[in-house]
Amino acid sequence: MVTILDGKSVSEKRLELLKEAIGESGLYPRLATVIAGSDPASQMYVRMKHRACERVGIGSVGIEVPGDATTDKVLEAVSRLNRDPDINGILVQLPLPGRVDTERVIAAVDTGKDVDGFHPTSLGLLMSGRPRFAPCTPKGIMTLLAEYHIPVAGARAVVAGRSIDVGRPMAALLTNADATVTICHSKTRNLAAELRQADILVSATGKAHFITPEMVKPGAVVIDVGINQLNGKLVGDVDFEAVKEVASAITPVPGGVGPMTIATLMENTFAAAVMRTP
Ligand SMILES: NC(=O)c1ccc[n+]([C@@H]2O[C@H](COP(=O)([O-])OP(=O)(O)OC[C@H]3O[C@@H](n4cnc5c(N)ncnc54)[C@H](OP(=O)(O)O)[C@@H]3O)[C@@H](O)[C@H]2O)c1
Repeated sequence: MVTILDGKSVSEKRLELLKEAIGESGLYPRLATVIAGSDPASQMYVRMKHRACERVGIGSVGIEVPGDATTDKVLEAVSRLNRDPDINGILVQLPLPGRVDTERVIAAVDTGKDVDGFHPTSLGLLMSGRPRFAPCTPKGIMTLLAEYHIPVAGARAVVAGRSIDVGRPMAALLTNADATVTICHSKTRNLAAELRQADILVSATGKAHFITPEMVKPGAVVIDVGINQLNGKLVGDVDFEAVKEVASAITPVPGGVGPMTIATLMENTFAAAVMRTP
């Protein structure tokens, strides 16, 4: 029987525990989001993050920069938030409009407030095995694996995708947890054979129903990061109905990795507030 890795209910449980921890701490953590432009998906993600803040007792501030803003304008907003002692976490919603230099903006975030974990310092610490803030999606996946007592140490893990926000930090977190890790990408030769090696398969390609049963080792744990539209429906990278017949455990889309990402952002923001407390 396949186990459905229910990120929704695990995230609900984690948010409740976090709410208690924040209440007991006497702290009032605050998260600031920066959004540039009016991309509907980005607006929706930011709204979900603000709602989660409200639920656990984290204050939130939303900074909206016009879509035609320059890199300097976005940098000004980040710099104000860096200086604001009442703000513990800063999240710049990506993607930024094409004319904005995303790398400069990410590198401008105060590393003590980098709750998204995309700053080169945060990624460097993660790579060196001493993470401070790990990116929320892969960190949330590690939490989900732990909540279901899925052994990672010694497992063969294969990650499809090498982005800075998911694939690369996912591989680093799995390596830090003693998995043997392969990263695949669009130039990987014989991808199916690589993926079939995986005890833990993480797909973050952004290709709807790309992962089929032939690519999955029987009994593998399959983590689907993808958020894709297919015939007007939200689907993952994994052909869920077919792959669940061969996997031992699998995340659904929606309700798998997505809610874990938001819960982890809340946990990172509280951790940032605790770190700031003398
Ligand atoms: N659930 C969540 O919370 C969450 C969070 C973040 C992202 N996502 C979703 O996860 C997906 C990936 O996001 P991302 O930001 O990592 O995307 P991305 O930056 O577009 O990266 C996609 C990666 O997949 C690889 N890839 C694409 N086609 C491939 C193929 N045919 N074979 C093998 N590898 C292939 C690319 O390889 P190259 O490097 O060679 O181009 C790239 O490394 C998207 O659907 C996104 O919406 C979900």
